[in-house]
Amino acid sequence: MTGNGMSEMQFSLDYVDLAQWRLAGHGASRNIFENRMHPDVVIKTVKPSAQSAGGNRKVKSKLLFFKKWRRFGAYMVFRRELEEYLNLARKFAGEEKRLPIAKIFGFVQTSQGLGMIVERVSSRDGSLAPTLRRLIEERRFEQNHLDGLNEFFSEAQRLHIVLMDCNLGNFVWCDGGGSNPRVVCVDGTGEKSPVGMYAMSGVLNRIKLKRYRARLHRQIWKHGEAAGINVSSLVGMSV
Ligand SMILES: Nc1ncnc2c1ncn2[C@@H]1O[C@H](COP(=O)(O)OP(=O)(O)O)[C@@H](O)[C@H]1O
Ligand SMILES: [Mg+2]
Repeated sequence: MTGNGMSEMQFSLDYVDLAQWRLAGHGASRNIFENRMHPDVVIKTVKPSAQSAGGNRKVKSKLLFFKKWRRFGAYMVFRRELEEYLNLARKFAGEEKRLPIAKIFGFVQTSQGLGMIVERVSSRDGSLAPTLRRLIEERRFEQNHLDGLNEFFSEAQRLHIVLMDCNLGNFVWCDGGGSNPRVVCVDGTGEKSPVGMYAMSGVLNRIKLKRYRARLHRQIWKHGEAAGINVSSLVGMSV
């Protein structure tokens, strides 16, 4: 095969030109790319609007950030997630295991800065798994989705997963991949506190997770009512 053909077929870990990938979604700070040739992964990059020259983070006040963290610049979000993933992964060393958070496969240099290669969470039909927010907006949110979210939080408590950002756009509904349908967290893991309070204390973390769960329930309530879903018939809401 010629060099050209190879680069089309293969996932070169040296450099990825994202012009060959499709922008599949985005959040406030990151872009998510997919490629049909590689259905198991997505690549996450920091949006150009969220980083300045040299990979620095665009912030209003420089005082807000500790020197230790400044060296990671706009990639700080990757570091937090990676730490959380390492902590979780070590608990299952040697096992083949589905995790409640998307698996991190590695990092690659791309045409749009460093990209994090992550497990692509998918639906049964192969499309990208919908977020809980989208299920609500499309009036497809049902009891099993709430059960899945509550199950996620039980797992998170048991496994001491630290979360720092909770909104319904960070949780997706996965009914593909041959396992039981479940809710997977694709963003917002890791510790915001510089001393690592929640990573250190299981008790504090459980309190925080409970608060986050209640906050998500309130969001389900609010968006659900706006979308015309009969929220009061859902069993297992903490609010
Ligand atoms: N691993 C993944 N599998 C499937 N969809 C994902 C994955 N990661 C992100 N997404 C989709 O992309 C959107 C934005 O990703 P996210 O990581 O939340 O970006 P941000 O950090 O900017 O909030 C999510 O709301 C979700 O719809
Ligand atoms: Mg997000």
